[in-house]
Amino acid sequence: MTAKIVVVGSFNADLVAYLERMPRPGETVHGDRFATSAGGKGSNQAVAAARLGAEVTFIGRVGKDVFANLAYEIWDAEGINRDFVSTDADYATGVAPILVDSSGENMIVVVLGANSRLTAADIDAARERIAAADVLVTQLEINLDMAQYALETAKQLGVVTILNPAPAAAIPQSLIDLADYLTPNETELETLAGLAGDFAAAARSLLTRDGQTAVVTLGAQGAQIVSGAASAIVPTYAVDVVDTTGAGDAFNAGLAVALAEGKALEEAVRFANAAAALSVTKPGAAPSAPCRAEVDALYEGAR
Ligand code: ATP
Ligand code: RIB
Repeated sequence: MTAKIVVVGSFNADLVAYLERMPRPGETVHGDRFATSAGGKGSNQAVAAARLGAEVTFIGRVGKDVFANLAYEIWDAEGINRDFVSTDADYATGVAPILVDSSGENMIVVVLGANSRLTAADIDAARERIAAADVLVTQLEINLDMAQYALETAKQLGVVTILNPAPAAAIPQSLIDLADYLTPNETELETLAGLAGDFAAAARSLLTRDGQTAVVTLGAQGAQIVSGAASAIVPTYAVDVVDTTGAGDAFNAGLAVALAEGKALEEAVRFANAAAALSVTKPGAAPSAPCRAEVDALYEGAR
């Protein structure tokens, strides 16, 4: 069965400088290499889900500028439905200057631009598409009221929801309440709940209703599932790290696709770990998303 995924989220043109080490404030350092590529958490998750074999619809907003072409190119190349992408006459396409050091760590500045101008009408236009989806995924790189509206719409229509609360931001509990699956990394979890270090307790404090699950991503440690009183760490795969940008996006895509395909939660997280682990072995965010065959080989090979 083909997974049907709707992503309501951001597109950014990633302007990536690769360098030996990060500059300190006030310091200038030389970069080794520069690349412009398709990014934005929403679009990255859409691309990663499409490469995993899902039928993907992307709902978002870009500007009327040259960076929007990067978005159209990658969506068309990956077979992503972009009928519900609107263009903004006044705001530029989102951009993200990114620094990646020799250990694969990154620093990112996001200028949201048109991403912050999504409207309820943009989401309403895709209502039928949302109703037909298995899973709707959203993040925090669009205006928060539209993240909320997207999740509300999905819940009304009986569609499973994933909220990836990234990048880290304080958000209302009413937004978290709409997520069937909440997928923070450690920093995002600390921003939402405090309680540094005790991830299970922190995650549990955010869940307010039955059927809600937190999946906390732990980088090279894998991910921790927290649901009701239960909590379990699902280890990830050992890989050579080149660039971790987009690891969280590949993880969320893997989780969405696996859940849509009916995998049990722990298996879905194992599959998401495989997609994310492979993504850190290549440079870039969307460009590093692995294809289904690679993920299946890692996931099934380890069972
Ligand atoms: P990013 O912001 O770099 O996209 P993130 O901070 O949102 O990532 P992380 O928790 O660092 O999220 O990583 C997400 C997932 O990626 C992890 O749960 C894991 O599956 C995978 N991953 C990340 N780093 C590594 C690593 N060094 N080795 C293997 N898997 C990794
Ligand atoms: O998650 C990675 C993404 O974060 C990058 O593609 C960048 O655009 C920022 O949004």
